[in-house]
Amino acid sequence: MEAHYLENWLRDAHAMEKQAEDMLKSQAKRLEHYPELRARIDQHLHETEHQAEKLERVMHDLGIDTSAMKDLGGKLSAFGQALGGMMAGDEVVKGGIASYAFECFEIASYRALIAAAEKANQPQVVQVCQEILQEEQAMADWLSQHLDDTTQAFLARAENDDLKAKR
Ligand SMILES: [Fe+2]
Repeated sequence: MEAHYLENWLRDAHAMEKQAEDMLKSQAKRLEHYPELRARIDQHLHETEHQAEKLERVMHDLGIDTSAMKDLGGKLSAFGQALGGMMAGDEVVKGGIASYAFECFEIASYRALIAAAEKANQPQVVQVCQEILQEEQAMADWLSQHLDDTTQAFLARAENDDLKAKR
């Protein structure tokens, strides 16, 4: 029973990381004027790629068939679609809100996964999920700490553009 949940939740986590890869890539591409934010997003993109690989390895070790996962990669949750839409906009503030919300979603998902892995007696899965959880937590903290500064910078730039347009 627990193993059944563990398998499903690992699949969900893998789809979530694939979705995160897409969102982080499209966001990084558009960030010209925010080098610090862009660098942190690039860093987390690398982490996210490794997270997906770690999950694949764990699933392989558990004997879970991962051959159908490529098809599921494009299947986004409604939540992910809404966030992806926010990130696809050209506004850095919306992207920051969506990124922060997505990291919190990931944190909650890995906490549930860790509980399921503990109950199913899978210390290797617990270990991997804890490593990933730490990276998600660090990214969420960073985004939270920089959200106000990013918003101020965006508003200052927008005001500048308005002044230029009025000349
Ligand atoms: Fe992640």
